[in-house]
Amino acid sequence: MSFSPPGSAPAPELDPHRMPLHVAVIMDGNGRWARRRLLNRLRGHEAGAETVRRIVRASRETGIAYLTLYAFSTENWQRPTTEVTGLMGLLERFLDGEAAGLMENNIRLRTIGQRQRLPAGVRAALERAIEATAANDGMTLILALSYGGRDEIVAMARDLAREAAAGRLDADRIDAHTVAAHLSTAGIPDPDLLIRTSGEMRISNFLLWQIAYAEIFFTDTLWPDFSREEFLSILGAYQRRERRFGRV
Ligand code: FPP
Repeated sequence: MSFSPPGSAPAPELDPHRMPLHVAVIMDGNGRWARRRLLNRLRGHEAGAETVRRIVRASRETGIAYLTLYAFSTENWQRPTTEVTGLMGLLERFLDGEAAGLMENNIRLRTIGQRQRLPAGVRAALERAIEATAANDGMTLILALSYGGRDEIVAMARDLAREAAAGRLDADRIDAHTVAAHLSTAGIPDPDLLIRTSGEMRISNFLLWQIAYAEIFFTDTLWPDFSREEFLSILGAYQRRERRFGRV
């Protein structure tokens, strides 16, 4: 990734004081993009990886602090083996290829999801990139990999139950902060903005707890076609929405 220059000002039409702190994206439509071109689905994922580069760059340049990308869900393991293997290979190449760009642009990498289920090569590439970028503080890029919101909530419930059973936690004192602190996103602010591409209007088990008050934008654009301009235009639309958090 070669961004220029890191941390530069947002596009003129955006108010730098009203940027979402955390943007989450359900990247959908790679398969349809490929099918429309009579290409293998993996070509769609490869084109999708280019969009990942583009949107990471745009996020860094506009001053977004956290960007979470839904790259692989727990349900995605049920796809044909060739597609899963291809996606894992793509991810490994992406991580190795982008590590230097993440450093140059002061971006920290994190993941949420079941990292232990990923192939050894992907885990190793992730560990390298996460370790190398651990001290970066320009932006945090969070890849959701083998991630499922319900699984995350179940794991949190088990954790809290274990702590209560061991006498380390008073069940009556469990509140929203306790729950948030036991999710994989502990310490990360909730998304302010959730974007889903490809026209599907579903949440698909993504960040179920964390999106309680997120502004949601759906676009018909397929992920490989999702441009920097459309991303900036959604950021502009987000800034024009009035967020009330349940108040009047
Ligand atoms: C959804 O499209 C996309 C995925 C399941 C994978 C997302 C992966 C990428 C964008 C590329 C690699 C990621 C990184 C971080 C380098 P789909 O296959 O469900 O599309 P369809 O609904 O049109 O079939």
